[in-house]
Parts: sequence; C-alpha cells; structure tokens
Amino acid sequence: MRIAILGTGRMASGLGKGWLKAGHFVAFGSRRPETKNDFHAVVGTESRVFGIEGAITAGEVVVLTVPYAETVQLAKQHAELLRGKIVIDITNPFASQPADGRAGAELTAEAIGEGASVIAAFKANFSNTLLEPIDHTGQPRDVFFAGGDEAAKQVASGLITDLGFNPVDCGSLHAATMLDLSVPMLIEMDTRLNKGRRTSSFRFSHE
Ligand SMILES: NC(=O)c1ccc[n+]([C@@H]2O[C@H](COP(=O)([O-])OP(=O)(O)OC[C@H]3O[C@@H](n4cnc5c(N)ncnc54)[C@H](OP(=O)(O)O)[C@@H]3O)[C@@H](O)[C@H]2O)c1
Repeated sequence: MRIAILGTGRMASGLGKGWLKAGHFVAFGSRRPETKNDFHAVVGTESRVFGIEGAITAGEVVVLTVPYAETVQLAKQHAELLRGKIVIDITNPFASQPADGRAGAELTAEAIGEGASVIAAFKANFSNTLLEPIDHTGQPRDVFFAGGDEAAKQVASGLITDLGFNPVDCGSLHAATMLDLSVPMLIEMDTRLNKGRRTSSFRFSHE
C-alpha cells in the first residue's frame, strides 16, 4: 500500500521502518522536510520525506503521529485532502481527553468532516517495541484498534499484521474513548509489572 506518515518522530520512525520492511511505500510528512536529510539513515534509503500536503497526496492511508494537541488543527487544515483516505490516528490525549466523553479520534473525524474514515490504533504500543512485535514468550504483542468503517478496519488490521503484531478489534470509533483512557493505566501497569521496560506486553486471546 501507499502509506503517508505525518510526523518524523519516534512512532513515525518505528512504524515507517516496519512497513518499509513489509514492502509498502512510505511517505513521511514533515513541517520542515528540508531539515530531514539524515532521516534516510534512521529509517532506510527507501523512505521519502515530503511536506505535509505532499505526503498526504502520496498516501492511500494516512497515519497521524504528531502530538495530540496538534491533531485536530492538522486534520482541519488538510480536511479536503484527507477525505476519502483511511486515516489512522495514534495520538494519545492523556490530560487533554475530551470532556464530553468522546475519543480523541472522534474529534479528528469531526475535523475532517463528511467522508472521514478514521481508525484509532497503536495507542498502547510503545515506540521502543514497534520493531519487536514478538514478545519474550514468543507471542505477537497486541495492537488495539477501533473505528466505524469496516472496510477501513480491514485495511488497518492488515497493516498491523504486516508489522508482525496481533490486531485486536475494540469496536466502534466511540470505543476509542476507552482506548484513550486505558493508556495511562497501561503505562502504570507496565512500570509496575514489567519494571518500566515499556514493553507493550498486554495480550488477550491468541487462539
Ligand atoms: N512514544 C510512544 O511510545 C507513543 C505510543 C503510542 C502513541 N503515541 C502518540 O504518537 C504521537 C507521536 O509520538 P512520538 O513519541 O513519536 O512523538 P515525537 O517523537 O515527539 O514526534 C512527533 C512528531 O510530530 C511532528 N510535529 C508536528 N507538529 C509538531 C509540534 N507542534 N511539535 C512537535 N512535533 C510536531 C514532528 O515531526 P516534524 O518535525 O518532522 O514535523 C515530530 O517529529 C503522539 O501523539 C503520542 O501521544 C506515542
């Protein structure tokens, strides 16, 4: 697939490396692509860094890996380009969780408007295990995802599988509120039970 990843930080690099390895085309979108000359050394020679619009245009799927506080504005600004694409929102609201009970990804969908196809995913997957989808027991780590568009969910699930993870369908886009809210708890559990190794080792059934 043609995947656009907006952002060039930790999550963007890990996801991009994994999808490039799986044979996908990956276009990174940066606010300052001209400063990213050494990005190829980090992510791989096949990576391409564009401006935000260039990356969105190049992708069938657009993955939002920018800070949560920037996401709605970014989605609004590029709403026209984002309509008709599958948008995977991985951003975590933490203390900025919407007060009305909605998920962060629902605000992203609202910002894109009619025709938005937004999937929430990767919220509880830490950047340092994105390239270690198999945990110490030999099982794939889970990636929770949620969304309202079944066809888009199939695509997202396939992309999660392509990284070597186990996709876990958590329901509608509104169910992503529970994903948002679970992240601080999962980080606390990871610190306490996994000795803070940021392992993303939270598994449901693999049968
Ligand atoms: N780190 C994790 O383990 C983890 C796990 C799950 C979800 N998340 C979520 O994933 C998103 C990215 O996390 P990350 O750890 O990859 O962050 P990061 O390393 O700080 O990267 C964020 C990227 O967003 C872009 N960006 C756009 N607007 C920005 C702004 N105003 N200020 C700073 N950067 C801006 C930057 O790329 P350019 O400079 O090229 O524009 C930057 O490289 C966050 O929303 C976070 O909640 C993170």
